[in-house]
Amino acid sequence: MKYLVIQGPNLNWLGKRDPKLYGKMSLGDIHKEMAKRAKELGVEIVTFQSNHEGAIVDFIQKNGPSAAGVIINPGAYLATGYAILDALLDQGKPIAEVHLSNVHARDEWRRKSVIAPIAKGVIVGFGWRGYIKALELLVAEAQQKG
Ligand code: DQA
Repeated sequence: MKYLVIQGPNLNWLGKRDPKLYGKMSLGDIHKEMAKRAKELGVEIVTFQSNHEGAIVDFIQKNGPSAAGVIINPGAYLATGYAILDALLDQGKPIAEVHLSNVHARDEWRRKSVIAPIAKGVIVGFGWRGYIKALELLVAEAQQKG
């Protein structure tokens, strides 16, 4: 089973962005931890980061059909990413939305995600571990469904 891990704008700067909000790990470090956990769970992850909404849509269209689920941190596209929302809707796969920081404790505009209504669930505020939990939860749900 293959899970897509999609990272939106500015997440390529993790490690250099405010560590109090986003932690000290780079995106590569996070993906390494995810790949380790995926191996233990007997699944595969395919990671992708882009600062461009259209590139994210292209990735979803290309890889969605063969994926068991999607873990997405849309970054600031949480507020405006309607094209990403539509692309995810078209695939109909289970989605976990992740944010490193607690978006509810920050600016007003970060509190309402356009993607959250179609996600199975949302994990915010737990840093890189949120991605691991998201993967574990999607895999557990898929196994339960059989
Ligand atoms: C973020 C939260 C967003 O509001 C912000 O625009 C990001 C990162 C997070 O992971 O906490 O770029 O998605």
